[in-house]
Amino acid sequence: MQAVERYSTGAIILHWLIALLLAGEIALGFAMPKDASGFAEYQLHKSIGITILALSLVRLGWRVTHPRPASLEGGATGVLAGAVHLGFYVFMIAMPLTGWALVSTDPLDVPTILYGVVPLPHLPLGEGLNNLAKNAHEWLAWGGVALFVLHVAGALRHHFLLNDNLLARMTFDGKAGRALGAGGAIVAVGLITLFSVGGDAPEESTRPEQAEVALADARVVGEASGDVKDDESEVETPVEEEATPTEDVDEAEAEPETAAAEPSSWAIQPGGSLRFTATNSGAALNGSFANWSGDIAMDPEAPQSAEITIRVDLASATLGDATQDNMLRGGDFFDTASFPQAVWRSTAVRRVSGNRYEADGTLSLKGVSRSQRITFTLQGSGNRRSVQGSATIDRNAFSVGTGSSAEGLAGAVEVSFAFDATS
Ligand code: HEM
Ligand code: HEM
Repeated sequence: MQAVERYSTGAIILHWLIALLLAGEIALGFAMPKDASGFAEYQLHKSIGITILALSLVRLGWRVTHPRPASLEGGATGVLAGAVHLGFYVFMIAMPLTGWALVSTDPLDVPTILYGVVPLPHLPLGEGLNNLAKNAHEWLAWGGVALFVLHVAGALRHHFLLNDNLLARMTFDGKAGRALGAGGAIVAVGLITLFSVGGDAPEESTRPEQAEVALADARVVGEASGDVKDDESEVETPVEEEATPTEDVDEAEAEPETAAAEPSSWAIQPGGSLRFTATNSGAALNGSFANWSGDIAMDPEAPQSAEITIRVDLASATLGDATQDNMLRGGDFFDTASFPQAVWRSTAVRRVSGNRYEADGTLSLKGVSRSQRITFTLQGSGNRRSVQGSATIDRNAFSVGTGSSAEGLAGAVEVSFAFDATS
């Protein structure tokens, strides 16, 4: 075999590191649930995406300052290979930038905290660019997949058909090189396993228990609102009466000391917001609730013992237009005369990582009680915290928006909240 002229060590490390991250990032992008239940996956996706951006800028700098081996091939295929490489550089930088643009212009204004540690500021772009950024992000992803197919096909063609040892140019030389490659592969497999296990395990383990508690809760809520469907007295013993939740909690959590500790109560401070966004024939309808309140008992260090209840005065919903607000109060929407209040009560709260939490609970709205997940972050320390969070609600499940006036209205309604709380 002829002597191989290789890429520099830095170029090889960056090539494979970025290739690995990109493959995982595209898969995660397509796989993550596109609602608030995917909050943790979104945050991970954004963190890896910004890491790819940083590494790609380093790689671009490296490419400009370090010589690369002369091309093996001229002619049309040589030009195609060059075009694919150039396309990859554009992709590696444009992809994270469009992702960053799409979260910066999202009306929901969800904060990004990279790896749960570093807050990522929004880019100064208007909400009007949201759709463009979203489409660009999706189409670029498909463009990346096409480049990948061409690139790998080219590499395999060289390896198997032309037999010109091109692959060796992008691999390390000798024993040390093979050890580095093997080490990299082990780290890669470890990381992929970690991501996939980390993503699925908590959800699965809480499902059955959560469904049970949600059922019990649904009956309690029905009673409290005078909507008595049954009068068995065992319903009187529910979860919320429990001051020391040891029995309920210790099946799921193996931390008796933290579970037994009384979580502190937090008072919601004035000035917070509770907003909702619905999409009507593609256009965003932004509204808010003026009156809502809540009881929060939670130790941020031991969220499993938290008990949170939020009550929303539905008649205080406003879209900023008197006609539409009247419609919201009417029978097709909230029917506030019969169902003045929506109540969300937590059933299982857990920390996703750092200051990010996920809370399963039961939402009772317009006579229907269903499980509903909320995600939120806590900023600050001591006895004052800033809470920001969101949820995606399936309005059809609660029969909100039934008549012809709701035609064109998307089923998913995004709800976001932000407030300060003190203990
Ligand atoms: C998403 C994944 C990948 C990306 C983004 C990517 C990107 C790139 C880029 C931009 C170059 C040009 C390097 C430069 O001149 O600066 C390159 C070269 C190369 N890549 Fe990849 N690559 C990926 C995956 C792969 C895979 C899976 C293989 C092997 C099957 C591979 C094999 C090679 C080889 C052999 C070269 C050197 C080509 C030459 O000597 O002209 N790449 N890659
Ligand atoms: C190279 C880096 C990246 C790659 C390869 C990538 C890939 C993807 C893919 C394949 C999707 C699914 C598209 C769809 O189903 O419509 C997606 C969605 C998304 N990405 Fe990225 N992404 C990257 C970086 C980022 C960054 C840096 C951010 C934000 C800071 C971001 C935010 C998002 C969001 C919010 C969505 C969901 C969009 C929606 O609601 O449809 N991405 N990404």
